[in-house]
Amino acid sequence: MDSLCIMFSKAFDIIEAELAGASEYHSLRVAALCAKMGKKTGYDDDSLLALFFCALFHDNALTEYNLTHRLGGYKKIDLKPHCEYGQRNVEWLPFKKNIDGYILHHHSCENGKGPFKVREFPHEAALIGAADMIDVMNNLRRISPNELGKLRNKIAACIGKFSTKSAFEKLLDIMDGETLESLRDENIHITVRQLTPPWKTQMEDESVLRLARFIAHIIDCKSKFTRKHTEQIANRAWFMGGYYNYTREEKTKLYLSAALHDIGKIATPLQVLEKPDKLDKEEYRIIMDHVRHTHDWLSEVEGLGEIHRWACEHHEKLDGTGYPLKKSDVELDFNSRLLACIDIYQAVCEERPYHPARSHDETMPILYDMAEKGFIDRKIVKDLDEVMAAYSMRDLPLPSL
Ligand SMILES: [Fe+2]
Ligand SMILES: [Fe+2]
Ligand SMILES: [Fe+2]
Ligand SMILES: [Fe+2]
Repeated sequence: MDSLCIMFSKAFDIIEAELAGASEYHSLRVAALCAKMGKKTGYDDDSLLALFFCALFHDNALTEYNLTHRLGGYKKIDLKPHCEYGQRNVEWLPFKKNIDGYILHHHSCENGKGPFKVREFPHEAALIGAADMIDVMNNLRRISPNELGKLRNKIAACIGKFSTKSAFEKLLDIMDGETLESLRDENIHITVRQLTPPWKTQMEDESVLRLARFIAHIIDCKSKFTRKHTEQIANRAWFMGGYYNYTREEKTKLYLSAALHDIGKIATPLQVLEKPDKLDKEEYRIIMDHVRHTHDWLSEVEGLGEIHRWACEHHEKLDGTGYPLKKSDVELDFNSRLLACIDIYQAVCEERPYHPARSHDETMPILYDMAEKGFIDRKIVKDLDEVMAAYSMRDLPLPSL
């Protein structure tokens, strides 16, 4: 869980940079600062874990906000929605500690001027808010230890304007030359590795499904055309696993792989993802590159094994004409073939810039044609036809937790 979360937050930082102009590894620095403050305060393991991962995901709803913001045509920045959505999303994660308000109030201020005009909120929200504010204002990734004095003055000057006095005091408490050094680009990965609270789980555990749902939702919110793409593919994969009598562990592995298969699209620029016209050669190359990003990012996660491989093979074809590795039928196992079929099914039936949403009956001939041409597995296409017919134009439910 912990290495998956760290990998995802690094990928997510690309979205923050694209949508909000944040500097690279912003989430990692905020999480590292919060972990240091939590440790210094003597937090127990569960409290530290909750604070660290909420800090890591404090802006998780940025894609969702951007989507509603763009679609709703809002004129001015409103901080409330990303706090509300972000809190709702993070509550899917299996924390042992109550995290009420941790993300909801990361922009609140005890002077009552924050987005919710409250004066009281959890101390953890204030710690996240203080770390967030200082990193945004001072570009901590590059600041050198001899600027420490100036930085400490700036932190002190925030008291009364943002977050809470006690949060900025905590920040001052840990802010020394060593801390500054540990946040620099060349050190931040080692720092985070040392500070990340271990979050271990078994594959059949429901926490894996919860984290997978969380990640899928955030990826999907990047574009209005993929709003339910990952979530629905993961749900369909879970459902097909049930049809094939997979064990819970096997279904969970497939679900996680499906949830991660398009994580690389985080790096695909929005104007390419949503281009209404035909893509040119370069744009097509950029789109195809998402699989390389998926591959590289998932390589950073320990213990994924075949989950990683299935996720990276969803655009391969049985006749060797797919991408990126042009693998052929002898190299593609059943779950890779299954995810490839489900991905095509979902892409064909959902609305895209270049085609409207399609019913099951309109979708299936396209898949049968591809099977006929030797691209995808015919038996799996038949099974999909049988299982998915009942859900034409309807969303498949989430696995019950
Ligand atoms: Fe925020
Ligand atoms: Fe932030
Ligand atoms: Fe893809
Ligand atoms: Fe996909």
